[in-house]
Amino acid sequence: MAQPLPVHDQTSDFAAAVRAGLAQPQKIIPARFFYDRAGSELFEAITELPEYYPTRTEIGILSANAADIAAAVGPGRAVIEFGSGSSAKTPLLLRAIAPAAYVPVDISAEFLQHSASALAADFPGLPVLPVAADFTAPFRPPGGIFGMPRLGFFPGSTIGNFAPPAAIDLLRSFASVLGAGSWLVIGIDLAPGPGKTREALEAAYDDAQGVTAAFNLNLLHRINRELGGTVRVQDFTHRAVWNAGLGRIEMHLVAVRDTEFTAAGQSFRLVAGEHIHTENSYKWTLAETQLLARACGWNPYTAWADTNGCFSLQLWQRALGIQEP
Ligand code: AVJ
Repeated sequence: MAQPLPVHDQTSDFAAAVRAGLAQPQKIIPARFFYDRAGSELFEAITELPEYYPTRTEIGILSANAADIAAAVGPGRAVIEFGSGSSAKTPLLLRAIAPAAYVPVDISAEFLQHSASALAADFPGLPVLPVAADFTAPFRPPGGIFGMPRLGFFPGSTIGNFAPPAAIDLLRSFASVLGAGSWLVIGIDLAPGPGKTREALEAAYDDAQGVTAAFNLNLLHRINRELGGTVRVQDFTHRAVWNAGLGRIEMHLVAVRDTEFTAAGQSFRLVAGEHIHTENSYKWTLAETQLLARACGWNPYTAWADTNGCFSLQLWQRALGIQEP
């Protein structure tokens, strides 16, 4: 029983972001613009690549530990998923915990409607109350879950797209939206370590089949499709690099020769070697994730990881809001 939603038009937002981002000396396009229809399909393909370990590793950890999560949080919770649509993971969690309601929150109303209906069909009797909102801004939970204890679900290492200060703001806002007595299940991709080489990490963002390259280059096709752009996509190449100092994978679109184009009514030029920075994917050490939790009003309750220490799924309990002595 999913409800109808208003349509959210991202077009003007994209034009403004491209105009501003390409006018800077270090050109950027924010990673959230990857996910038009073509980009979302390419991302789905990425999750199935042999090199891209996060999705299958997280699903493995979740299936192995869903019963422990259920035992800790108990039945009757409203599950609020931030950035819904990680199709395979949500049912694994919902089937384990006997929830009272499911609230997917996503900025893309079209995507949300589709995934909410599919999920509602699989869980007859479960109230599914989608919210079309940007989960990085405060939003009001639907009235239908008033008074219900809550469990946040933030899988996929989406937190990786946020620089540490923004990650902290976000996790603190989750603590406030979810409220007293809540829990959070969060997936966090881990920094290189004994069982995780820098090479394997970079390969996850630069696969042999070129799917991630196509995902990155789709931003330029999207400029041509939606903003009347004249970008010569063949003038650009995909690059993914681990920035050890900042603890993140960076994706760039590098100009392989001098190139110029117009887009959204403006002209731009890049010289050979100049690049557009399109994504940061931060990786945390396990110790850092514990500090991150505590700094944001959460007590880290359990942190699971695969045996190689590639990816971590964690259960956090909201810290009590009482005054310390
Ligand atoms: C959806 C942000 C978790 O950083 O691994 C995958 C996006 N970019 N391959 C990630 C992504 C290139 C993904 N997140």
